[in-house]
Amino acid sequence: MIQSGSFNAQMLDASGIYYYPHLGSTNTEACRLAEEGAPGGTVVLADAQSAGRGRRGRSWHSPPGKGIYFSLLLRPPGTGPAAASPVTLAAAAAVARQLRECTGMQAAVKWPNDLLIGQKKIGGILTETRTSRQVLLYIVMGIGLNINHRAEDFPAELRRRATSLYLESGLTFERTTLFLDLLKGLRHCLDLFFKEGFAPFQPLWKELSATLGNDVKLAGQDEAVQGKAVDLDAEGALLIEDDRGQRHRIFCGEIV
Ligand code: BTN
Repeated sequence: MIQSGSFNAQMLDASGIYYYPHLGSTNTEACRLAEEGAPGGTVVLADAQSAGRGRRGRSWHSPPGKGIYFSLLLRPPGTGPAAASPVTLAAAAAVARQLRECTGMQAAVKWPNDLLIGQKKIGGILTETRTSRQVLLYIVMGIGLNINHRAEDFPAELRRRATSLYLESGLTFERTTLFLDLLKGLRHCLDLFFKEGFAPFQPLWKELSATLGNDVKLAGQDEAVQGKAVDLDAEGALLIEDDRGQRHRIFCGEIV
């Protein structure tokens, strides 16, 4: 891919994408647009975020000229909150596959929402939903990817755990084209997800998994669950087998 410093605003405009050089958080902006009645499919992209948000109240470091930070507004008709819940897993598999196809890098998925290369995090997904009386009003799916970051672009405390396409390959990637390709693949997969659920994604997720076969410990559960991650079922639950051979079906949480 050719080298480039900034997003091509004209290409983004022509694709109907809300593009901002600086924003607090693309998720916050997409939620605001959703509340104003923006249609499903609306996309918000920023070159830099000053208040990028991660899961569990963490921040998402989003320096200018380096990454891809975007949010997609989804309004799936006739989908309830429970049916929508594995959407993040499907999206992670879709983005990892697209990253492999577009860059040749061995991107992988770590349950539930992380994208890795090797053992290090290259991206993450923050999915936020708004419901009313058990009816899903909308989903905002926010995706952050580390693309052209040098080591010094990460805060010192992240350098051990985070990586970028540049750090893994020595190549600088043209972000507009990469983003539009990722978005195309992601939209296609989300259409499939809202028609057929998670089942069609189960084999892909397993193929791209950096979690299965590992000893894991889960945070975010009422009870601590620890054991080997042995499988992912067709509903997106992670199956963990503890040292007594008992299997736990886990739908949410975080591997620590
Ligand atoms: C995580 O791994 O904790 C999820 C990180 C999600 C970060 C993205 S960047 C674009 C979008 N806007 C945000 O404020 N957060 C998400």
